[in-house]
Amino acid sequence: MTFFPPAWRLGVVQEVAPPGVLDLGPGYPGPDLQPVGLVRHAYARALEEFGSAALAYGDNAGALPLREALARRAHLPDAGRVVLTAGTSQALHLLGTTLAAPGRTVVTDRLGYDYGRAILTSCGLRLAHVPADADGMDPGALDDALAARDTAFVYLNPTFHNPTGQVVPERRRREILEVTTRRGVLVVEDDAYAELGLSAAAFPPPLAELDPDGVIRLGTFSKTIGPGLRLGWLTAGPAVVTRLLSHGLFHSGGSLNHLASLAVATMITDGEYDRHLDRVRDELRVRRDALLGALGDLDVTTPHGGFFLWLRFGPEQREEELVAAAAAGGVRVAAGSRFGAGQAPRIRLSYSLNRPAELASAGHAIHTAWARSGLLHERVSS
Ligand SMILES: Cc1ncc(COP(=O)(O)O)c(C=O)c1O
Repeated sequence: MTFFPPAWRLGVVQEVAPPGVLDLGPGYPGPDLQPVGLVRHAYARALEEFGSAALAYGDNAGALPLREALARRAHLPDAGRVVLTAGTSQALHLLGTTLAAPGRTVVTDRLGYDYGRAILTSCGLRLAHVPADADGMDPGALDDALAARDTAFVYLNPTFHNPTGQVVPERRRREILEVTTRRGVLVVEDDAYAELGLSAAAFPPPLAELDPDGVIRLGTFSKTIGPGLRLGWLTAGPAVVTRLLSHGLFHSGGSLNHLASLAVATMITDGEYDRHLDRVRDELRVRRDALLGALGDLDVTTPHGGFFLWLRFGPEQREEELVAAAAAGGVRVAAGSRFGAGQAPRIRLSYSLNRPAELASAGHAIHTAWARSGLLHERVSS
């Protein structure tokens, strides 16, 4: 049943499902979406082109070829606003330790990326949660939250949100930025899924495009190439860039992932990265539809990008029972409460890791398991 190569084993990778279990939990690309051949070639190219400079301490802000390529992709005038990171996780840690003293508050959505929140609380920061409606964070409630406390920054994930898949429309983006600008508070825009839009429709501009000095935008290659690269980037205004780069970590070690940066720069400049992205998006679309098709009449909105389906259940249903019944049917799912409490039961399913055939059988298996356990009642809408 498994299609994971033998090297995907504990001690090598962070997590592997036990044999026979279809894992719809993790949000990262599966083995067949990771372009091992392209990456091998890119590392060889980087070493040919840069030689020993690829093995030196890298420029503190990150290798210029990659920063320039990323600046062009983000329509920035130059690379001065781009800092390379060891992924979004490290960027959040950097922001949580550089822009905020322990005890200060980060304002965020009630629902959000669980491990991102854990990084911020590990930095000694408190989280304050603001309610959202179908368009995203409520600007009035955000204003109240910022008036009530000394906020280090606002942390948002407005495009293909993890876990809901929601995209905040442009109007709401502008309303949120009106509040943060008036209150003088920085926004951290986690845009991990930005390049994984799955429909032809135009998506709203990033918050950082609407307010380049007031928004720090985080990008990552984890979702498009593979998380093992540990490579990402942030864009920010010049004052924030200077402040971040004053961190001793850069003075001591230079850029956090120099050789990977040069390798990925070659993938972008020779067009391989964009061709790969097209393939990934095509495949994700097929995967999303295979899983959706197998879920029958369950209450779920089709996401227009990212990796996740967010299933809604009525208040009479119990999340633990849904998770347990799915496990008994051989499928691992993520409990919605992992991403924020105080809601009717929700389940997150990831379609990034498995192939369409596995996703279809996993979808049928959970639907059958839930129906047999009497867990499927009236469809709810919210
Ligand atoms: C919203 C969001 N941000 C960040 C990350 C982690 O990114 P990275 O691998 O670059 O640390 C994830 C991964 O699940 C995510 O969903």
